[in-house]
Amino acid sequence: MTAEIATTDLTPDEARAELARLAQALAEANAAYHTDDAPEMSDADYDTLKRRNAAIEARFPELKRSDSPSDQVGAAPADGFSKVTHAVAMLSLANAFDDSDVTEFDARIRKYLGVPLDAPLDYTAEPKIDGLSLSLRYEAGHLVQAATRGDGSVGENVTANARTIEDIPHILDDAPEILEVRGEVYMSHADFEALNLRQTESGQKPFANPRNAAAGSLRQLDADITRARPLRFFAYAWGALSESLADTQFGAIERLKALEFQTNPLTALCDGPDALVAHYREIEQQRADLGYDIDGVVYKVNDLSLQKRLGFRSTTPRWAIAHKFPAELAWTRLEAIDIQVGRTGALSPVARLTPVTVGGVVVSNATLHNEDYIAGRDNKGEEIRGGKDVRVGDWVQVYRAGDVIPKVADVDLSRRPDDAVPFEMPDRCPECGSAAVREPGDAVRRCTGGLICPAQAVEKMKHFVGRSAFDIDGLGSKQVEQFYADGWIKEPADIFELRARYGHGMQQLKNREGWGEKSATNLFDAIDARREIGLGRVIFALGIRHVGEAAANLLANHYGTWDQFDQAMRTARDGNDAWQDLVGIDGVGAVMAQSLVTTFGQDAETASIERLVAQLDIQAAARPDTDGSPVAGKVVVFTGTLEKMTRAEAKARAEALGAKVSGSVSAKTDLLVAGPGAGSKAKKAADLGIETLDEDGWLDLIGAT
Ligand code: IVH
Repeated sequence: MTAEIATTDLTPDEARAELARLAQALAEANAAYHTDDAPEMSDADYDTLKRRNAAIEARFPELKRSDSPSDQVGAAPADGFSKVTHAVAMLSLANAFDDSDVTEFDARIRKYLGVPLDAPLDYTAEPKIDGLSLSLRYEAGHLVQAATRGDGSVGENVTANARTIEDIPHILDDAPEILEVRGEVYMSHADFEALNLRQTESGQKPFANPRNAAAGSLRQLDADITRARPLRFFAYAWGALSESLADTQFGAIERLKALEFQTNPLTALCDGPDALVAHYREIEQQRADLGYDIDGVVYKVNDLSLQKRLGFRSTTPRWAIAHKFPAELAWTRLEAIDIQVGRTGALSPVARLTPVTVGGVVVSNATLHNEDYIAGRDNKGEEIRGGKDVRVGDWVQVYRAGDVIPKVADVDLSRRPDDAVPFEMPDRCPECGSAAVREPGDAVRRCTGGLICPAQAVEKMKHFVGRSAFDIDGLGSKQVEQFYADGWIKEPADIFELRARYGHGMQQLKNREGWGEKSATNLFDAIDARREIGLGRVIFALGIRHVGEAAANLLANHYGTWDQFDQAMRTARDGNDAWQDLVGIDGVGAVMAQSLVTTFGQDAETASIERLVAQLDIQAAARPDTDGSPVAGKVVVFTGTLEKMTRAEAKARAEALGAKVSGSVSAKTDLLVAGPGAGSKAKKAADLGIETLDEDGWLDLIGAT
């Protein structure tokens, strides 16, 4: 290392050169540390360089590099891949489990588009490959980037690894200038068996199934290991495009095939639900002989202009669905029933099983849902399993479908031990001893300990740091449990005080077992990097009952900023305007709304939330691209009959343009779109002096004519 000039003495040119040198030195140190497990630089030297980099950046903010080491905390190194923000989100698919779900899928689409039942509507049907999805970006025909799905918006950069896969072309002839090809990386049964044989022979752990083997092989830090693993790739979709591939889904797949991608030979064009189900049966027949795992059949609307009109719900397209194959089953013995306490206090019975292989995976735990399920009743009090209850010692049938947690489906009474006794749910929380009560209408018994229950507190924080929430590198369930047990963190806000409290002084993180100077600094940096965070993630992270990831994003998009969300949750009640506005959000029902309002009405909860929010810089929700939209931010009400599109489509289009669609006219309404037959709403709008348009006027306004 060259003699160091004090940062305060650097000229801008020297500073620029020094920042470049530091970026490279730190990147090399990171690579040595994470990839090779052979650190070349001491923790102390590493920290010195990092601080020097930060000091120079503070003096010359305009010289901060786009690959600045200060921005890389929390990004790549913990797992070794840099992150890639997908230009077009990688979505998942809604599921259909039986034939009637397929008929309903078709009916929903027809209703949305206003296509009558007797008019033709084509779909494609193709196998759902059980692997992991990958997005390949080509620019001017050259493969420039490959990224995993990740959380759908941010994935991992696995370009070097993808280049080793034979099915993935490096150069395309006659392709659009920008083309993102999406598809599934998978491993064939034969290659999987051979790989596992090699694994066991060399004393390594075999993979549970081909999908795990494919995922483990693609996510190797050393691309040479990936090269030695026989991965394959089927193309079935696309992301960003500079020009369209075709007018139809089927045509686009043919185009991908012409570009020399592998496409699935069982892709078919079907003219409705009956043909789809017939093709499903056909594929199901061939399933065992395909030589690779598939877990269902995917149906997609064929006409791409219809796909565009149908658009997306928060995480899934309206124009596609995955028709899953039935779950796999196995029988085993129920050894015990344990009770777990979740973040909302729910007491969940968990079956501890004699380990058994179900569909290639060893299962030793399964969910038993709740006390009614164990007793043989559903949530309406009606019999399930012919009313048979489940007892410790029983032989039970377990099943798993895809990624879901295995479930106990059935019980074999002929093998029940004589001394088996009916299960009784405890009426005290096994973790904190508080009363566990079951409210009328609630399927589960809940611990009433609230924030004093350690299980609830810990589970809430595990949820808080989870992947779709704060996703802090280096802070997982294990660390949360440790820090909680030591009294370092009691609630989410405490996470953001860790550096101030345990970064120096008597008790320091770096001195704890399993931690060092560098890992401690990395954790503090990763926490700081998350102070700036999107609104949707914050709402989801709060762990409010009934508010999942999709709902949190809907709320974020609707309210825009934390202050508006917070204000609305504190004022909404008993059908007032704020309540109407909340339940007016498509996807928010009364149950979720009540849960939000109850949470924001509890002093202890709001105090804890306030302490958290004080630590954060919450980013307003990224609104749909509504630049220049004449209706962005406007409250629009539709009434009467629409003739050019269905109500659902009108609403979705208005929302995509940044409007808020409400079901009722009030002083807050900006615009009423009234079709023939409009009644009281039109009158009320006129009384309030609200601008009213007919359907054509509306289409003119949004530029859709
Ligand atoms: S289409 C916007 N087609 O299934 C829709 N997905 O459950 C994009 N998958 O994340 C997906 N085979 O990893 C599509 N033929 C197929 C598929 C397929 C497997 C996976 C994909 C996706 C997941 C959704």
